Amino acid sequence: MSQNSPSFDDSGSSFENYEFTFESYLNDSSRIEADYEVLQIVLDGRNYLAPFSKESPPKKVLDIATGTGRWAIEMGDEFPQAEITGTDLSPIQPTCVPPNVTFYVEDNTEEWDYTPDFDYIHTRVTFACWSDMPDEIIRQAYAHLRPGGWFEAQETFSNIEYEDSDNPEEVAARSSNAFVRWVDEVKQLGGAVARPFDDACKLKEWLEEAGFVDVQERVYKIPLSGWPLEERTKRLGELWRANIEAGLGAFSYALFNRVQDRSLEEIEVSLPSLTTREDRHR
Ligand SMILES: C[S@@+](CC[C@H](N)C(=O)[O-])C[C@H]1O[C@@H](n2cnc3c(N)ncnc32)[C@H](O)[C@@H]1O
Repeated sequence: MSQNSPSFDDSGSSFENYEFTFESYLNDSSRIEADYEVLQIVLDGRNYLAPFSKESPPKKVLDIATGTGRWAIEMGDEFPQAEITGTDLSPIQPTCVPPNVTFYVEDNTEEWDYTPDFDYIHTRVTFACWSDMPDEIIRQAYAHLRPGGWFEAQETFSNIEYEDSDNPEEVAARSSNAFVRWVDEVKQLGGAVARPFDDACKLKEWLEEAGFVDVQERVYKIPLSGWPLEERTKRLGELWRANIEAGLGAFSYALFNRVQDRSLEEIEVSLPSLTTREDRHR
């Protein structure tokens, strides 16, 4: 997935929560639920793109880094005959779940101890969770799927693009845009500390290298604020912007302070303050 149309007018207020660290950002339940809503819109209400249906349901499903387990629970409801397992480092899953859904607290970077007979293994929004996704996740997913099984990774990629990339003004605006620079810097630092943010754009290659066949890649754009006029896309942009606002301070603190030893004051003044298209058109 990719993002387009940078737009962010954060005034720095989100940095008030600088104690809110990168790890707590990744497993913050309300933010994870917001991500779920975003992906529901992106995928037109679907939970998966793999070719399953009521007539051809999966039998055994594994959701890696399940977060609040929302996806696993929805899959359990949709496929009551299937056995759904969700695993995560954090015990943030509810206890009241459908009878065919089970959660385990596990570090999925360690060797998996499951019977290798899943017919569907899934990840979503796990950027910066793995230091080596091909070895930690893709290799193990391949080994734990039965022949004919599906692996589906619904991952986000922070590639900031403008709608009109042929327009020189837009190209110039990109290079001077504070939010674009912030994203580039965060990605660079994330890579430097083995927390890569750009796994999504390498997935197809990695899956093919691991031996998967019939590898399909779908790329969706997500607006970075509510500038689109069309209602569905506007809602998507509003949700995504709120999501990024929630993470701005946490990412900055985790990377700029912990990795680069920048002071909190320095980070605070360097946080991007961008103007949205909506604001410009007002
Ligand atoms: C951004 S959340 C995504 C949750 C879920 N996949 C979703 O889309 O709703 C990332 C999740 O990865 C989990 N995580 C990070 N590192 C992990 C690891 N090594 N093993 C298992 N889970 C991990 C975090 O605890 C967090 O719940």
